[in-house]
Amino acid sequence: MTCATVPGRVNLIGEWIDFNGGTVLPMALSQSVELEMCANGQTHDRVQSQQFSDITDFGIDVPAAGHWSDYVRGGLQYGRRMGWITGGQDVILKSTIPVGAGLSSSAATIVATLRAAGAELAGIDPAGIARAAQDVENIFMGVPCGIMDQMAVSVGRPGNVLALDTRDCSYQIMPVPAGWTFAVIHSGIARALSDGRYRARRQECLEAAGSLGVPYLCDGKLEDTPSLPPVLARRARHVISEGARSLQAVTALAAASRPSFGMLMNASHASLRDDMDVSVPALDAMVDDAVELGADGARITGAGFGGCFVCLVETGQASAWWSRLKARHPGAVRVV
Ligand code: GLA
Repeated sequence: MTCATVPGRVNLIGEWIDFNGGTVLPMALSQSVELEMCANGQTHDRVQSQQFSDITDFGIDVPAAGHWSDYVRGGLQYGRRMGWITGGQDVILKSTIPVGAGLSSSAATIVATLRAAGAELAGIDPAGIARAAQDVENIFMGVPCGIMDQMAVSVGRPGNVLALDTRDCSYQIMPVPAGWTFAVIHSGIARALSDGRYRARRQECLEAAGSLGVPYLCDGKLEDTPSLPPVLARRARHVISEGARSLQAVTALAAASRPSFGMLMNASHASLRDDMDVSVPALDAMVDDAVELGADGARITGAGFGGCFVCLVETGQASAWWSRLKARHPGAVRVV
């Protein structure tokens, strides 16, 4: 039997720029996926999870079926293609990462599957495993995601920030300054990545970059965006401004400037809400209240459309701040 444990992640800033040539700042979490794998001598894979009641039993070549086990099966098929494993596998998944919250439970599951299937033994480094996991998501699952989540969970260290240049995957691991708490709150609003909205936003970004004549949209200039059709102009404005905010956030983090980092988070949320159109009014209200009640900054995190938001709070204030926010939004749940 082989095992692997892989953390989830929360993105602190740098949203929708991991396929646009930007720098992103995810932080790996203490919540993780734990996976056990063992060859079963059959021509099918059996997958069970503590989070779901069914045990799935699929032929080893069956394509993605829109089922939670797809992330494992995609990883197993990759592992078989690479010759790391042969034949069917029995897999048991235990996870403390909430599903559908924007905390990369899917990337963590694929990376854990690849590791348990022997990617490390085959000499693949964590960045290589991240790229393989992205392939599984892009090709097997058909979700055209960037590289942020896979790198964050494969390379990141829980409780540290990964400042990742998504253009070449170079990175630095930065500690969270003393006295800073990043609280992650689930809004209670469900979200789904693969429902076409992610793909549509990505397509709009590619079109905008093409019209501006730049290889990556982050390379565009804000003053050129008004020449684009209105929707593309807004997407470009988000991506170009978010790319700049993200770099400023690296500086704020290095200087341990909580107010600056918080302001950048607030500007990021406004841009995601107004230009990227990936927030929802009920979540905007929670984000506004989080700041009104004492957070330095708050923003929707991950692809958005619901799920979690992340707040920067002074550590000594965090628990009283959360009590005030919870009193105003009883449906919200603090997950980190
Ligand atoms: C999802 C994708 C990432 C990234 C974010 C938005 O989490 O998987 O690649 O594009 O959305 O920043």
